[in-house]
Amino acid sequence: MDWKAIAEPWLRVEAETDAAHTPVLEGIMARAGLRSGQSVLDIGPGAGISLLRAAGAVGSAGRVTGIEIAPPFAERAIARTPDNVDVLIGDAASYPFVGEGFDAAISLFGVMFFADPDQAFAHIRTALKPGAVLTFACWGSPKANPWFSMPGRIAGEVFGPGPGFDPDAPGPMSLSDPDKINRVLSGAGWSVEIDTQDLHLTPRGGPADVGKMHTTVGAAGMRMGAAKAEGTLTDAHRAAVRSKLIAGFSDMVEGDEVRVPAQIHFVRATA
Ligand SMILES: C[S@@+](CC[C@H](N)C(=O)[O-])C[C@H]1O[C@@H](n2cnc3c(N)ncnc32)[C@H](O)[C@@H]1O
Repeated sequence: MDWKAIAEPWLRVEAETDAAHTPVLEGIMARAGLRSGQSVLDIGPGAGISLLRAAGAVGSAGRVTGIEIAPPFAERAIARTPDNVDVLIGDAASYPFVGEGFDAAISLFGVMFFADPDQAFAHIRTALKPGAVLTFACWGSPKANPWFSMPGRIAGEVFGPGPGFDPDAPGPMSLSDPDKINRVLSGAGWSVEIDTQDLHLTPRGGPADVGKMHTTVGAAGMRMGAAKAEGTLTDAHRAAVRSKLIAGFSDMVEGDEVRVPAQIHFVRATA
């Protein structure tokens, strides 16, 4: 995936994305049990919301290190985090981490994009102290995650069928099968516990705001961006995507909020 290209539109909706992911980040923090003074690795921190939370948990005596492949994300993450945070630019699958090993690692949706997950998780294990825990969240079943499936369906309706879904290709759904998580991480030497939870994402604003966000990022936003780049995007496409997204998110309104059902695997892997 071209994360450098994805970063630019993502950073335009950073606050909206952070808000939507809040219950997932809280789930990671509750399971990771980070303590004052620890050194923590954050894999794929993107714009840095998880770095901020981890930095608060370890305090000024601790240190949080992000490993982020896309320079625009790394720059933004550095700008918004305190002095006890570093962000390394590189591929977590091969970065030559130095030092005695991290006390813990976390990742909010940052470990599903490795070309060779077996190799990547084996490499990451070597960056942690023996017995240290990697706590990460990844998406469960695509059917149980309308945050992806609904905009993907809409993009198909408006622009025609997209590329077929390959559950083994690097991408947000590549670890949606818990058996695969177990197989890959166990094979890489980790002890694995998976806690699958049905929860709700909490994006900001009403259906029109959330629909607008999805014209920038996600499956619909990416198809719109691709059509724009090839000069085929029309006003009719824009209007159709937008009205369908608004209708879809209107079905998820509870009280004053859009609450998007989600199935998340919270994984605790011990090195
Ligand atoms: C879905 S985004 C999640 C970003 C952030 N954790 C959040 O939830 O807001 C995935 C992140 O992982 C980063 N990433 C993808 N592959 C990576 C790799 N091999 N090494 C380091 N970072 C990677 C991307 O650049 C991106 O920032």
